[in-house]
Amino acid sequence: MSELQGYGLLKGKKGMIFGALDDRSLAWRIAIACKREGADFVLSNAPIALRLGVLDALSEETGAPIIPCDVSSDDEVAALMEQTKEKLGSVDFILHAIGMSPNIRKKKEYSDLNYAWYNQTLDISAISLHRVLHHAEKSGLLNDGGSVVALSYIGAQRIFSKYSDMNDAKALLESIARNYGSRLAKRGIRVNTVSQAPTKTSAGTGIKGFDGMYTYAEMIAPLGNPTADECADYCVTLFSDLTRKVTMQNLYHDGGFATAGISEEMIEGLAKLYGKESGLD
Ligand SMILES: NC(=O)c1ccc[n+]([C@@H]2O[C@H](COP(=O)([O-])OP(=O)(O)OC[C@H]3O[C@@H](n4cnc5c(N)ncnc54)[C@H](O)[C@@H]3O)[C@@H](O)[C@H]2O)c1
Repeated sequence: MSELQGYGLLKGKKGMIFGALDDRSLAWRIAIACKREGADFVLSNAPIALRLGVLDALSEETGAPIIPCDVSSDDEVAALMEQTKEKLGSVDFILHAIGMSPNIRKKKEYSDLNYAWYNQTLDISAISLHRVLHHAEKSGLLNDGGSVVALSYIGAQRIFSKYSDMNDAKALLESIARNYGSRLAKRGIRVNTVSQAPTKTSAGTGIKGFDGMYTYAEMIAPLGNPTADECADYCVTLFSDLTRKVTMQNLYHDGGFATAGISEEMIEGLAKLYGKESGLD
């Protein structure tokens, strides 16, 4: 849990937060940080995720209404915009924190993907950003000068084998953010992706090999892996007026992992593993 007391960075701002499932979710931590900074918002998730009833606790804590919406349905996204308008009038920020791969869930390897599921992965995890922005613009929900953040992963640039078709989904997500960012810029609206390090959430730990990815990133990143609360603090700055000219960017929030090569700790670890003859010690 973040120990920050809050700076009022989002005072008077209204938002829409997708993807809070349980208290480990990045979106859950981001919602708490947005509340701390003075924002009001609605929470949305797929009806199936809401059945568990877990989100009610976050709704009570933040005073945010919950509006069900499966982001793969055009009609549901359109209806969500109208219902949000009834609750808030308009919004200044949108968080897209949605990811799902049936192929990963059902252990289908990348070279043997089920194509219907592959389409679902791309639709839910990436195209949904397009759909949300399309309906937000069409309905007049999103204010001029607003800010949109979608959560991504470095699998968009570098291949992490166990991340499978989600590597493709994140590449598409980042491209949609750039494309929409260029179009919404005339209204002062910025669109960015935050590329977060591996984080122990429901979606994260659902990936076979997640522990290896987490430990590898932790060993390489000079600052270590950031927590979900640290991700939340970063997203707050992007929703705030302090970052008005930042758009169409993929912003790494990963303790330096993206540009680091190998760490001393890892060289020592490899030397121990492979011994003298490897020339590593
Ligand atoms: N956890 C990590 O290691 C990590 C790292 C980088 C990026 N991310 C990204 O962060 C975002 C949030 O994931 P998380 O790690 O907090 O996990 P999470 O499981 O808490 O969140 C994923 C959310 O997507 C929602 N979702 C799935 N299908 C949906 C649909 N059809 N309609 C609406 N919502 C739907 C789920 O209900 C869930 O709330 C995802 O985009 C994920 O890829 C996660």
